[in-house]
Amino acid sequence: MSATVIRLEQVRRGFDGKLVLSGLDLDVSESETFSILGGSGIGKSVTLKLLIGLLRADQGRVFFRGRDVTHLKEREWVRVRRHFGMVFQGSALFDSLSVLENVAYPLREHLRSDEETIRRTVAEKLALVGLEGVEARLPAELSGGMRKRVAVARAIALEPEVILYDEPTSGLDPSNAGRIAELIRSLQQRLGVTSIVVTHDLGLCQAVSDRVGLLRDGHLVWLGAPEGLRNSTDPEIRGFLQGSFPEPGVMESS
Ligand SMILES: Nc1ncnc2c1ncn2[C@@H]1O[C@H](COP(=O)(O)OP(=O)(O)OP(=O)(O)O)[C@@H](O)[C@H]1O
Ligand SMILES: [Mg+2]
Repeated sequence: MSATVIRLEQVRRGFDGKLVLSGLDLDVSESETFSILGGSGIGKSVTLKLLIGLLRADQGRVFFRGRDVTHLKEREWVRVRRHFGMVFQGSALFDSLSVLENVAYPLREHLRSDEETIRRTVAEKLALVGLEGVEARLPAELSGGMRKRVAVARAIALEPEVILYDEPTSGLDPSNAGRIAELIRSLQQRLGVTSIVVTHDLGLCQAVSDRVGLLRDGHLVWLGAPEGLRNSTDPEIRGFLQGSFPEPGVMESS
């Protein structure tokens, strides 16, 4: 049994009197790829933000490698966050910065490397996501699929132990979505990272996950291997799957 990297215990979180997470339990093991599947507005991004201290739980506890991080101060979170790479929903690249500066951003913030080391590291990370020689481009000059991959390169810049992906295929056409799924798998295999993917994309879940949790009513209502989800006869799961997952936002060009 491999070590537990991430644990949420009975986490509750609400906004303006509306409960979003109502007692969420989650355990993710070393080198596992765990997907949280759920519809729009259900609390997927909130869950990821709780894991890296960008939001705090109202109740319950958050652990990273057995350490209770629930009540850390911001300056202690800065150190814990170093172990995480986050691919934000919609990529969240800095529009006015080149690809080089986007990927170099966490390096400049956290390391005192010389310019040549930074350039070499950026080139390495871009190669890992299958993008070479795009350092001088601006995000607006790239396709949606390429922007996602730049966001992944930025997330792995500091060689995190855990990668969090927030809707990594949202807005992509099926072929670009497939390439992102391959990338998630290949990074897991090559870097041995632990990954959490939040998505409403059932195909992505099935392509990348060791285990899937279905988030609904503020907690995981189903947990298991991805094949089990499709084959489940549980009326609640069937209803959820047949309801399909509404895609928020508009299609990005790819
Ligand atoms: N900072 C915040 N302040 C107030 N309400 C918030 C905040 N963050 C999230 N919420 C609310 O919490 C709920 C869950 O939001 P969340 O962003 O986690 O949804 P999601 O599952 O990621 O949805 P989507 O698929 O649209 O990205 C929503 O009702 C949202 O409006
Ligand atoms: Mg979200």
